Order: sequence, then C-alpha cells, then structure tokens
Amino acid sequence: MRTGPNPQLDADGALQHLLTLEGMPAEIIERILDTAVPFVSIAERDVKKVPLLRGKTVFNLFFENSTRTRTTFEIAAKRLSADVINLNVGVSSTSKGETLLDTIDNLVAMNADMFVVRHAQSGAPHLIAQHLSARQRDHIHVINAGDGRHAHPTQGLLDLFTIRHYKHEFGKLTVAIIGDVLHSRVARSLIHGLTTMGVPEVRAIGPQTLLPTAVEKLGVRVFHDMRAGLAGCDVIVMLRLQSERMKGSLLPSAGEFFKHYGLTADKLALAKPDAIVMHPGPMNRGVEIDSAVADGKHSVILPQVTFGIAVRMAVMSMLAGG
Ligand code: CP
Repeated sequence: MRTGPNPQLDADGALQHLLTLEGMPAEIIERILDTAVPFVSIAERDVKKVPLLRGKTVFNLFFENSTRTRTTFEIAAKRLSADVINLNVGVSSTSKGETLLDTIDNLVAMNADMFVVRHAQSGAPHLIAQHLSARQRDHIHVINAGDGRHAHPTQGLLDLFTIRHYKHEFGKLTVAIIGDVLHSRVARSLIHGLTTMGVPEVRAIGPQTLLPTAVEKLGVRVFHDMRAGLAGCDVIVMLRLQSERMKGSLLPSAGEFFKHYGLTADKLALAKPDAIVMHPGPMNRGVEIDSAVADGKHSVILPQVTFGIAVRMAVMSMLAGG
C-alpha cells in the first residue's frame, strides 16, 4: 500500500482503497456522500446504468454470509457498467487449501480491477491491499465489505448518508447505538464516521457485557439504562446480537435482553417525536426490535438498503478515479 498520512489514500490524497472509516478525513467522507446523491435517482430511470466502470472487472469475494452487502455491491457495480464476478467461495479452491493471497494472485492474473472483500478475520482486506502494493499492483482497489468485528466502512457510509438524508446536518444530533456494540463492526465504523462528521453526542447503550472496554475512548457516552439513553435522541441505531462472534454466555436469555434493550413503541416514545429508527440488518424481530417499530413510521431500515446501492456506486466510482 502506498504510504502517507492515511494508507487508504494515495500520494495525491485520492481514495486508493476503502478499508476503514477510522482516520478517514471528513472531506473524503463528505465527498463520498455528495457523490452518492445523484446515483440515488439512477434507480428511477428506465436504463439504470452509467458508464463509469465500463471495461473494469470487479470481484466480489464473500468468505462470510451476506444478503444486503453482497447484492447491493453487485447491483452498484452493474449500474456502473462493470463486469462483476461473484466468487462462490463455498465451491472455490479455498476449500482445497489454497491461501487467501494465492486466490488473490490468481484473480489478479485474470485482470481484476477491484476486490470487494468480506472475511471473518479482522484485517483480511488490509492484508490483501498490502499484498497488492508489495507486488506493485497499486492500480487494483480493495473495498472492505466487513472484516471480523473490526470494520464495515460502506455500511457506516450508508448509515451516514441515511442520517444526512433525513436530518440534513450532523452538527446538532444525538445518535444512540443500542445493543451488541462489542461484536459489531457496523457500530465501530458508524462511531468513527459520526464523530468525524461532528455529531456532538453519540451514545452507546447496552449491558456492560456487550460494550467494548473503554468504549468512551471512541468518543461515545455510555448508558446501561436504555430508557435514560433514549431521552432526546434524533437517531436510534439498533444492532443484532451477534451470537456467532460471542464466546461464552454474555446474556441471561434473548427474552431478558429484549425486555431491557429491545426497541418497543413505548421506549421509542422517549426519543424525539421525529426520531428515525435504523438497523443495518439482518434484523431479529422480538430480540432487539419489536415488529411494530421495525415496520412503523419512524423506521428507515429499508431506505438504508436502497441508499446502500448509491453509496457503494460512489465509493467504486471514486476508487476508479471517476
Ligand atoms: N448490513 C449487512 O452487512 O448485512 P449483510 O450481512 O446481509 O450484508
């Protein structure tokens, strides 16, 4: 990877890879959000395509399950006129012992221009970016589509886009992130994004066992009492209990969790009357969110998914120099 103040940026300050929102300058985040705005309306056209990635080959490498991220990246790349290959990891040669970097080298030999990578191991997309740089392949871009519990930068960006769309500016907001913050790469990326964009109050709400140690150092205010934490909030972001990443029992039961930290209509009433409710998905109804809220008038959960296409188009077109 080229070196500089931010390893995701090239020597001219242009986006080279998108690996994390930690340390990402506010101007770059703002440029991504601004670039995404006109891409939203492409979905309303008869021909939902622009030629910005024509001739480019994008490889979707999902070593972990996904519904929203994988499909919206594929739609985004196709709307930019790229050729898209979804590597079916389950039937690829990784199951025969091929290493991640050998797989990458083989795809580079097929003239890849961009890799979209989801991996259970934190740091896997960084490793690929460093590997490409060491082989003078700096023209190939890597996008982190979620690595372990570390980062999910395009989810953070689409969350920021959604918040800006409904609330117009970041400078006066109170945002609550609720639930399993400890295992959530979504929460980490969103916290970095919100603090960088100048949100004055970001709250992390959850039981002690599901909040990272010293989470306050990320610039958030901690609440263990959900009702107290919801008071005066403009934006509520609910998180899934990520049992696949939990070691040991961190909760008495899902029912007990819902009682204390599930978002119900009566708890939502403690936030501002025009508060929006967000969730990155996949959602577990009756565990972290009640169906009446998930499908209610405050919910912007499905618009988040739609905006994800435009935001991913913006990231890919900026990486490709568009
Ligand atoms: N938000 C999100 O990452 O969802 P998927 O796991 O379905 O991609």
